[in-house]
Amino acid sequence: MKTNDNNLEKRIKKLQKEIKKHNQLYYTLGKPVISDLEYDKLLKELATLESEYNSKIGVTTLFPDFEKKSLFESLKVFGQTKPSPTRTVGAPINKTQFSKVAHTAPMLSLESITTKEECLKFDADCKKKLGVESLDYMVEPKLDGLSVELVYENGVLTRAVTRGDGLYGEEVTSNIKVIKTVPCNLKGDNPPRLLALRGEIIMHIADFQALNKIQAESGKEVFANPRNAASGSIRQLDSSIIARRKLHVYCYKILTYSEKMPDTDEKIIELIKNFGVPYVPRAKHCAGIMDAINYHIEFEKKRDSLEYEIDGVVINVNRIDYQEKLGTRTNNPHWAIAYKFEPRKEITRVENIVIQVGRTGVMTPVALLKPVEVGGVTVSRATLHNMDEIAKLDIKIGDYVRVQRAGDVIPKVTEVLKERRDGDEQVFHMPLKCPSCFSLLEKEDVFYRCLSGISCPAQLKESIAHYASKGACDIEGLSDKTVEQFYDEGLVSRFSDIYNLKKEGLLRLEGWKDKKADNLLNAIERSKNTTLDRFIFAMGIRNVGKHIANILSEKFLNLERLMSCSIEELMEIKEIGPETAQSIFDFFNKENHKEEIKRLLFSGVSFQNKKTGGKLVGKKIVFTGVLSKMSRKEAEKLVENEGGEAQANVSNDTDFLVIGENPGSKLDDARKKGIKILIEKEFFSQFME
Ligand code: IVH
Repeated sequence: MKTNDNNLEKRIKKLQKEIKKHNQLYYTLGKPVISDLEYDKLLKELATLESEYNSKIGVTTLFPDFEKKSLFESLKVFGQTKPSPTRTVGAPINKTQFSKVAHTAPMLSLESITTKEECLKFDADCKKKLGVESLDYMVEPKLDGLSVELVYENGVLTRAVTRGDGLYGEEVTSNIKVIKTVPCNLKGDNPPRLLALRGEIIMHIADFQALNKIQAESGKEVFANPRNAASGSIRQLDSSIIARRKLHVYCYKILTYSEKMPDTDEKIIELIKNFGVPYVPRAKHCAGIMDAINYHIEFEKKRDSLEYEIDGVVINVNRIDYQEKLGTRTNNPHWAIAYKFEPRKEITRVENIVIQVGRTGVMTPVALLKPVEVGGVTVSRATLHNMDEIAKLDIKIGDYVRVQRAGDVIPKVTEVLKERRDGDEQVFHMPLKCPSCFSLLEKEDVFYRCLSGISCPAQLKESIAHYASKGACDIEGLSDKTVEQFYDEGLVSRFSDIYNLKKEGLLRLEGWKDKKADNLLNAIERSKNTTLDRFIFAMGIRNVGKHIANILSEKFLNLERLMSCSIEELMEIKEIGPETAQSIFDFFNKENHKEEIKRLLFSGVSFQNKKTGGKLVGKKIVFTGVLSKMSRKEAEKLVENEGGEAQANVSNDTDFLVIGENPGSKLDDARKKGIKILIEKEFFSQFME
């Protein structure tokens, strides 16, 4: 293949990888790092490049009809077996918590646009394809939440499923049922056999603010925005928590209906309303596209006064027969479009530019801003990344700047308002010395770096916060700020000090009350039971991210072996190059590191073996009733020997319930949750012989 095609292929692969990562961050983890706008741009670029590529290699059926081919069916582009993100919706679902169930119909996504021109084109395209002169639309606010399917069978709510990847989602029925405004029974005497609705789960802004206040007071994670709060809440395994968090579901579409479908979108909203189900508020029938555009303008102005967040409007061709004629692409319809609002921007002043020292010693310039509200959130800092970015923006201390906060992404300075300069602005220079430990900085590419490691207080604090972070030892409530406070008060100056924290000590600190202290101490206690890969990652060894930590844990299986391995042994591992091997080797051969690890183990940090072999690897199993072959304890031990996990109770992530004589209430639980049930004999013959 020619170089040009190779470059194209490379860029496509890179974009696919990047978008998948963002999908995971957005849909699965609820923590996006780029704005919707940036995401849409990436997706559009990918779609264009893919069609360019495919037309070059002669593939013409890029957009198969939904009915004919499944979402998962991939074209053999580059011989890959997994579909490109342009051909899937959302992200792989998080299987460890809820059971995975199929939707009654695919849950599609929408194409996003941001300009009036694109909107007019959408209208013109629809008219052309339908061969009509005029078209009316049903227009609704685009609620900024997460989609859910509600399934009513014979009028009873039997299932609620998050969107997941569009075909399968997470079953969250018990969590949806505790939402006060979602009826468990449809209104009316003659319920349909089946009605599956699509709606959006959201949290109102006031409830979100109240929740964050409680979270902060008890030392728990605060949510970046209402959508993250809604998504974090619905994924709670304990339904009683959701009952306390006020969530709402507003429905706007029918996914499946056993009766005759209404003939317009307007009538669908009416039908949803008549069944007593909350329907999308403020929806409007528009006689033509100009009406819809005016609706967009009106709501963009109104958005800050609404009780919930919206990020655009959805424009739907009103007539269902027209929708059918227009059809769908692989994962979004031709008959509807998301007309997004401009990301929120505000103007404020740069009061100072300071340096933030990262865990690895990298200096990041940060603009301290005169606090300004951007879409309901007060912004007072924005990262400027590095000196090149500062030069590119040409930003000075004292400048007026435009800051943008799209969705919940970290605020960004997008522009300097040079016309507002009065001559007093000051150029920012990178200091020669580290602001934390005063050692001389070294320049590496666009970065300046302090090489003092953990003898630099700033790097030490960041390292401790990293040790406690989610992907590492996961100590909820031990945030950067908390670590800073503990360090400043002399409570924590190395990882192992975390395990010596006492309640009395915490209560003496400002802002620490009973509940917050208990929560943190419990989280610390829980974190002692960790896995080897998390622990290796938590050490913050240079060049060792999660992936390498995982590989190391799988190769060495125990810490002692890893600590005493040679560089050669490390280099034998495919993914590890000489630089990484050296840094791993150096880390474990430093006396102070060895001592610290000893202290951690002595404090009770231990590793659950993630068994890589065995017939039950990754499986979660619950036993109930009296087993005939052995005691329950012995059976649980056997499960663990085969790499599985024996759970005490049935939860949504249980794989099997094994029943002996006189099974208890766990059997009912498992039935309700749709968990596979095996009788003792079946289980032993399948897995233990
Ligand atoms: S219609 C097939 N209407 O926006 C069309 N979507 O990609 C289905 N959303 O995550 C979507 N408010 O969950 C529609 N009034 C509304 C909406 C809405 C929010 C979400 C939807 C999806 C995204 C569009």
